[in-house]
Amino acid sequence: MPQPVVDLHPYFAPLAEFEGLVDWPTMFGNDHPVELDIGCGRGKFLLDSSLEHPETNWLGIELDFVEGRRAAKRLAKRELPNARVIGGDAKQFLINQVRPHSVDAAHVYFPDPWWKRKHTKRRLFTDEFADLLSRVVKPGGFVHSWTDVGDYFKVIAGLMNHHEDFVIDVPPPEPVGGDEMNFLTNFHRRGRKLGCEIHRGLWKRKPL
Ligand SMILES: C[S@@+](CC[C@H](N)C(=O)[O-])C[C@H]1O[C@@H](n2cnc3c(N)ncnc32)[C@H](O)[C@@H]1O
Repeated sequence: MPQPVVDLHPYFAPLAEFEGLVDWPTMFGNDHPVELDIGCGRGKFLLDSSLEHPETNWLGIELDFVEGRRAAKRLAKRELPNARVIGGDAKQFLINQVRPHSVDAAHVYFPDPWWKRKHTKRRLFTDEFADLLSRVVKPGGFVHSWTDVGDYFKVIAGLMNHHEDFVIDVPPPEPVGGDEMNFLTNFHRRGRKLGCEIHRGLWKRKPL
């Protein structure tokens, strides 16, 4: 018998429920800084970050509702007040729902590489996406992006290094060691297990 769908509000909400700009204090009940995890997958980074940094609000945006709901269930289980997931296309969310220069950081970890040449246009990181990041991140805020796909990192670094609104910064060190928890995200763990080099980028938003 099919299982009834569990209502995960407020931990998970589909993008279709939002109209107009989101007011962060209304969403989180406080005016703490907000950081986005774009393509949060099943939410390891979101969960770890919200536990380690209760002084910050963490919002995951995930296209795949199965993964996004899985992430939200982990947050709901701990009744975390400072983390939420929105199900939908991050680009649409950034365009329609995020007030300009209202987020302290955007994290984009291991974006889908879309290996086949005919599919590369589906990649998240494009000119338009870099412009959207510049529009939503506060001056002095950050964009973090890691990937184990060297070719894609060249594209990401090319877009960000040459963007007029960002300056290159020094990324945090990669966690190392045998501890299973010593990974930033699930895809980080997977890349490391496969022996892939992990490319890490950090960019700081310039003043307006
Ligand atoms: C390779 S997975 C990485 C997941 C996670 N960041 C990690 O490092 O484990 C890429 C994720 O981005 C999501 N994604 C792809 N395009 C997206 C978009 N336009 N908006 C939101 N999420 C997207 C995919 O559904 C997938 O869960």
